[in-house]
Amino acid sequence: MDLLFISVLLTALLAGVSAAVTGVPNNVVVPFQQNYHILYGQDHVNVFGENNTVRLSLDQSSGSGFGSYKKFASGLFEMRIKLPPKDTSCIITSFYLTSFGDEFHHDELDFEFYGGNSLPYQLQTNVFANGVGGREQKVALWFDPTADFHDYQILWNQHHVMFSVDGIPIRVFKNNTVLGVDYPWRPMQVEATIWYADWACDVKPDLSKGPYVAEYQSFDIAGCPVDDFNPNGRELCYSPRFWWNTGNRWQLDPHQEQEFQNVRAKHISYDYCRDRARYPVVSPECQPNSSLL
Ligand SMILES: *[C@@H]1O[C@H](CO)[C@@H](O)[C@H](O)[C@H]1NC(C)=O
Ligand SMILES: *[C@@H]1O[C@H](CO)[C@@H](O)[C@H](O)[C@H]1NC(C)=O
Ligand SMILES: *[C@@H]1O[C@H](CO)[C@@H](O)[C@H](O)[C@H]1NC(C)=O
Repeated sequence: MDLLFISVLLTALLAGVSAAVTGVPNNVVVPFQQNYHILYGQDHVNVFGENNTVRLSLDQSSGSGFGSYKKFASGLFEMRIKLPPKDTSCIITSFYLTSFGDEFHHDELDFEFYGGNSLPYQLQTNVFANGVGGREQKVALWFDPTADFHDYQILWNQHHVMFSVDGIPIRVFKNNTVLGVDYPWRPMQVEATIWYADWACDVKPDLSKGPYVAEYQSFDIAGCPVDDFNPNGRELCYSPRFWWNTGNRWQLDPHQEQEFQNVRAKHISYDYCRDRARYPVVSPECQPNSSLL
């Protein structure tokens, strides 16, 4: 690399640093268009309010989705979501981070909402690292997610990935590279979609009863942006200058730990770590000493 390139790079990264850090912590209302664009289903996306609320809809003709312009290598990613109030069996509402591109080695952190006729919504999380997923966990939500907006967050730093709902941790995926478990590191973009998965239910919904509408808010992004052309820049994303990388976010505090254990005791409806039929050999990150459990 020549010096000019390095200095341009540093300037850009430092600008990114200050921009991200001043956004602490995100109660600024940022218009949708500042960080996001429509991915597909243009005529099924409605941006309204002061550009601070987005409706994604799905009907027989199409689903829809939006994504961030930038990719990030660490951050605390948040979306406020209100789910479709109808029978959404087979219809999945989502909010996730994905590195996209190389399908065989991609990283991804997912929130996926599965509704159903009479069943309460199940919130599924999954972690892909280096193309390997299959780490589903499901939580039966303890409130009606269709009645109001709730906060769904993904904290991602060098130490762990924490999924939380209204500030309550529901899942932790530790950096267990020391046990030989891959950990997500590829720059990822933020995406949100509503889509039809006909494999996901036994009784198919009557899509003509649509549209099925999910609403999203909170378009500020507390993340460290990285350019695809400079994947090495991600090292700077581990800097303690970003508040989400600092010591008190390396692990759950005692209060969070207590809430997390409560969720695990009462609301987990599926956990790949306990599915011996599917995984006769338990993954290393599921061992008690890995601190996943
Ligand atoms: C919302 O975004 C549109 C498109 O960028 C813009 O034309 C409009 O002025 C914005 N409205 C508000 C209230 O910010
Ligand atoms: C995972 O942890 C190791 C130290 O155990 C660290 O060197 C590495 O950078 C971390 N990986 C990521 C992607 O943060
Ligand atoms: C965790 O426990 C497993 C077996 O229970 C063991 O093989 C592994 O070495 C332990 N890992 C650490 C980091 O202690």
